Amino acid sequence: MLIVDIDEAAAITTVQAITEAGGEASIFIADVAKESGCKALVEAAIDRYGKLDILMNSVGIGGPGATPDVTEDAWNRVLDVDLKSMVFISKYAIPEMIRNGGGSIINVASVDGIRAAMTKNIPYAAAKGGMIAATRAMAVHHGRENIRVNCIAPGMIYTSMVEAVDDRRRQLRRNIAPLGTEGRAEDIAMAAIFLASEESRWITGILLPVDAGLMAAGPQSLINNILDDYDYV
Ligand SMILES: NC(=O)c1ccc[n+]([C@@H]2O[C@H](COP(=O)([O-])OP(=O)(O)OC[C@H]3O[C@@H](n4cnc5c(N)ncnc54)[C@H](O)[C@@H]3O)[C@@H](O)[C@H]2O)c1
Repeated sequence: MLIVDIDEAAAITTVQAITEAGGEASIFIADVAKESGCKALVEAAIDRYGKLDILMNSVGIGGPGATPDVTEDAWNRVLDVDLKSMVFISKYAIPEMIRNGGGSIINVASVDGIRAAMTKNIPYAAAKGGMIAATRAMAVHHGRENIRVNCIAPGMIYTSMVEAVDDRRRQLRRNIAPLGTEGRAEDIAMAAIFLASEESRWITGILLPVDAGLMAAGPQSLINNILDDYDYV
């Protein structure tokens, strides 16, 4: 497995976690916001492993701001890192998958691409919504080549992306969903393993929320969850 990151320390942490779980992985440093980085990482995967059959587009950065506050630089960076990367990595990965008889692409969007988030984040919302739309189009374009393309929409997961949030917000993120437990990176990984596996061979073009039920909840139930008041009568 090839772990790609712009940050070597983050890549090492990921590889350590994989090794401790009994897996094997190597590191490739690239900026996936650039087409050259996307091309290079696919070439590295072929060089090291001889084929590319599973691609997980999980790189993402936040993009804060309501519309009047959005700067052109922030917009371009978030759209490049979060959305352009999945298209341009796939651009080089798909021909390799075709050569190999097929493959599975798993895109990691967000519930923020489905509904407005707790924070104002127009660039992030636009990028994640774009990922969901591009997933469906790619699934349709490449079905006959036996390439499946699916999208996971994580809910409020506790990872390094959000470890700066204070305890109050961390608790709110946990309580708001029906299950009321904190999401971990492993919850997303388990869904991705299924979408990568032969067990999901007849599934393509789907949007799979992995969110403790957040997208199922209506306004009243969200309020009840926040208030810890489950009297629905
Ligand atoms: N954590 C959450 O609550 C949450 C919720 C919904 C969706 N997501 C999505 O899940 C995915 C993973 O998020 P996470 O919480 O693990 O974030 P994270 O910050 O822990 O991991 C993202 C990784 O992407 C790398 N990266 C950033 N820019 C890059 C670039 N230009 N080129 C290469 N690598 C780059 C970072 O170095 C980092 O290691 C993201 O797409 C994120 O939008 C996360």
